[in-house]
Amino acid sequence: MTGTLISIFALAAVLLLALIVIGPALFGSPWHPISRRDLKRALDFCEVRTGDRIIDLGSGDGRVLITAAKDYGLTGTGIEIDPIKVWLANLRVRLAGVSDKVKIVRANIYDTDYSEADILFIYLTHQAIDQLFPKILEQLKPSAKILCYRFCIRNMTPDKVNADKTLFLYTLNKGTRVNQFR
Ligand SMILES: C[S@@+](CC[C@H](N)C(=O)[O-])C[C@H]1O[C@@H](n2cnc3c(N)ncnc32)[C@H](O)[C@@H]1O
Repeated sequence: MTGTLISIFALAAVLLLALIVIGPALFGSPWHPISRRDLKRALDFCEVRTGDRIIDLGSGDGRVLITAAKDYGLTGTGIEIDPIKVWLANLRVRLAGVSDKVKIVRANIYDTDYSEADILFIYLTHQAIDQLFPKILEQLKPSAKILCYRFCIRNMTPDKVNADKTLFLYTLNKGTRVNQFR
């Protein structure tokens, strides 16, 4: 009896984990959090400024926004499809003491308005990025920056790429380059 119960709990735990990690791939991208080291490198690479508003598309456990708020003085919004991760991230935001600077909302990245963003942080697959661009360029401020981790925006030329080609920074320069990607 005890053995059966343990098996049921183990199976339920594996299924839940699969749902949280792989399930979101059906909507855009699986869950694979950025490492702490790469996160710092990414924010330094982007040359963020205190007060900038950053939006993380697919915010996972909220680590990007928590670090951005705590260590760089940014304000941020996380867009996340998975309600469990939204709950977890909001808990982490509270525990980190940055509730006044960071909010995580349950929403779909394809139905979100990005017009207030100074920085978009994107760690999604090429397929998901292809669906977003060039459409969302129309919403962005002329001064907005887009920082992509591991997957670049195909058909857009980055302004800066790091040595190991994991960080791609785009600035819009609207009015000239946007039309090239229509
Ligand atoms: C590769 S993870 C990146 C997580 C986080 N940005 C980080 O760097 O640690 C991608 C995240 O996007 C979320 N996601 C996938 N499709 C989505 C969609 N259509 N709308 C919102 N979030 C989505 C997944 O649940 C997952 O948490």
